[in-house]
Amino acid sequence: MINNNLELKDQASNYPSLQLSDRHLCDLELIMNGGFNPLNGFMSKDDYESVIQNMRLNNGSLWPIPITLDVDDKFVSEISKSQKITLRDKEGFVLAVLNIEDIWQPDLELEAQSVFGTKDSEHPGSHYLLKTSKKNYIGGKIEKIVNPHHYDYQSLRHNPAELIGIFKNKKWDKVIAFQTRNPLHKAHFELTMRAMEDLNANLLVHPAVGMTKPGDVNHYTRTRCYNHIMREYPKDSAFLSLLPLAMRMGGPKETLLHAIIRKNYGCTHLIVGRDHAGPGSNSNNEPFYGPYEAQEMLKKYQDELGIEMVPFKFMVFLPKSGKYKAIDDVVEDEEYKTLSGTELRQLLDKGKGIPEWFTFKSVAHELERSNPPLTKRGFTIFFTGLSGSGKSTLANGLVTRLHEEGSRPVTLLDGDIVRTHLSSELGFSKKHRSINIKRIGYVASEITKNGGIAICAPIAPYEEDRASNRKLISKQGGYIEIFVNTPLEKCEERDSKGLYALAREGKIKEFTGISDPYEEPKDAEIVVNSSDENPEILVQKIYEKIVNMGFIREDK
Ligand code: PPS
Repeated sequence: MINNNLELKDQASNYPSLQLSDRHLCDLELIMNGGFNPLNGFMSKDDYESVIQNMRLNNGSLWPIPITLDVDDKFVSEISKSQKITLRDKEGFVLAVLNIEDIWQPDLELEAQSVFGTKDSEHPGSHYLLKTSKKNYIGGKIEKIVNPHHYDYQSLRHNPAELIGIFKNKKWDKVIAFQTRNPLHKAHFELTMRAMEDLNANLLVHPAVGMTKPGDVNHYTRTRCYNHIMREYPKDSAFLSLLPLAMRMGGPKETLLHAIIRKNYGCTHLIVGRDHAGPGSNSNNEPFYGPYEAQEMLKKYQDELGIEMVPFKFMVFLPKSGKYKAIDDVVEDEEYKTLSGTELRQLLDKGKGIPEWFTFKSVAHELERSNPPLTKRGFTIFFTGLSGSGKSTLANGLVTRLHEEGSRPVTLLDGDIVRTHLSSELGFSKKHRSINIKRIGYVASEITKNGGIAICAPIAPYEEDRASNRKLISKQGGYIEIFVNTPLEKCEERDSKGLYALAREGKIKEFTGISDPYEEPKDAEIVVNSSDENPEILVQKIYEKIVNMGFIREDK
C-alpha cells in the first residue's frame, strides 16, 4: 500500500497539474475519506445529469447536490479524456490523481435552478455557479495520495472510520449528529441535552468548518466556543469533531447531503432545525425555502438513507423559572426570551455584553474577544471626487482630528502618496485606475482588519472599483464613503496643479471630468461640497458622523 502510494506519487509528477480551490479541497477530502460515500471521485457527466434531474446517481443511489470539479478553458485545452491529472493543494503538494472520464461544459443556470431552485445570485450556491465557477467540468475517479493537510485543530479532525471506531470503543450505539455553522448557545445546549435524554443516545457536535455562509463567525472563534461548551455536557456523553464540508446553503437538498455524510460518519440520528442549511432571503427579501421544507425532505428519505431525523425544537428562555423550554410547550401568557442573530450582533457592536441567560460566560467571552465593540474596531474612510475637489484637504484635516482623538493608529492613503509608493508604474487608463483603486482597497482592508483607521483619498472614478473595495473592507470593519461633490467648474477654477488647463489644451489625455468619466457615487455615507463650506466645518461634520455611526466614543 505504502509502495503503491509512493509509486503513484512518483507518477503524478508527470501528469498535468491542477491547483485546487478551497471548495475543491473540501470536496476532495470528503471524497477521499469516505464522508461522501458512495462517491469515489468528482462526478462524471452521467452522474451529474442524473443528480440534477432525479436527485440520484446513475446507479440509483440518492444524491442531492452535484460534486463537481470546475476548470478553465486553458486547462481544458491541455488535457483529454482517459488521461490522468494530478490534484494539488495551494502550496503545490500532491494530493491525488484523477482519471478523467468526462470533460464537458455544463449548463450552470440549469444546475442552479434545478439544485437550488433559483438563479438569484443572492443564493450563495447559485452565486458560486453563476459568478465564480469555471465553465468546464471534469469528472472521474480519484486515486488518493494523501489527505489535505490541516495545521489547525488536528486533534478535532476525524475521518469516518476513526469516528466509527471511537463510537465503538465508547460503546455508543445511538449517536445524534448536530450540524452547525454557528457558535452554540444555551438554547442549543438545552435542545441537544433533551434529544440525548429522549432518545437515550449520545451526541456528536459536528460543525462544518470548510466553507460556510459569507459573513459567518470564523471557524477559529467557533471552535474555541465549541471547546468551551463541550465542557458543559455530562462526562462522556458528547463528542466534538470538525467536518471539512464546503456548504452550499442548499436548504432541503443540502439537508439530505448532511444526512448522507453523518450516516457515513456512523451517526444514527441528525438534528434538523427550521430552515436547515438555509441561505436567508432572496433579492426581494423573501426566504428561498419554506421553514419546514428541509425537515419534510429528510422525513421523506430518512428510511432509504438509514438515518433518523430529530426535529429541532426552538428553545426559549423563561425568566421566571430560569429554565429553557421548547416554544411549542410555552403556555399562553407565559413570559419568554429569545435573542436573534441581529440583536446579538448589535450587543457586540455596542460592547454591551451578552446576557448569561443566553450563552455560557466562556462562550460570551470568546465572541466579545473576536468582535470588539465598534469603538475598538478598525475602519476606512474613503474619500472620492474630482481632482481639486478638496479630498486631500479634508483627508488631512480628518487625520489631524483623529490623531487628537487618539483611539487607534491612523494611515493616510492620499492619491499622490499612493501613486508615489504603491502605483508609480501606473497611468490613468480605466484598467490602471482600477488596479490603483484595488491596491488602495487591499491596503485599507488590512489596516482595518488590524484595528487601525485608513483614510483614502483617490479620485476613484468608477463605481465598480469602489463597490469592490466596499465589499472587501466591510468584511474587516467599518467602511465610510465620502463623496466630495464639488462641481467641476469650481475644481477647474481652483486648478491648483494647473492640470485642468493642460487637459483643456489636450496636453493631458484621459483627464477625469474633462476627457474621462467620473461616475457619481449613489450610496456614499456622506456627501460634502467644498465650495459651500470651509474645510474645518466639513471635517467636524464628518467627524460627528463617524461618532454617530458608533466608531468613535463621544467626547465627554
Ligand atoms: S485614480 O483615478 O483614482 O486612480 O486617480 P488618483 O490616483 O487619485 O490620481 C489622481 C491625481 O493624479 C493627477 N492626474 C490626473 N487625474 C485625473 N486624470 C488624469 N488623467 C490625471 N493625470 C494626472 C491629479 O493631480 C490627481 O490628483 P488629485 O489629488 O485628485 O488632485
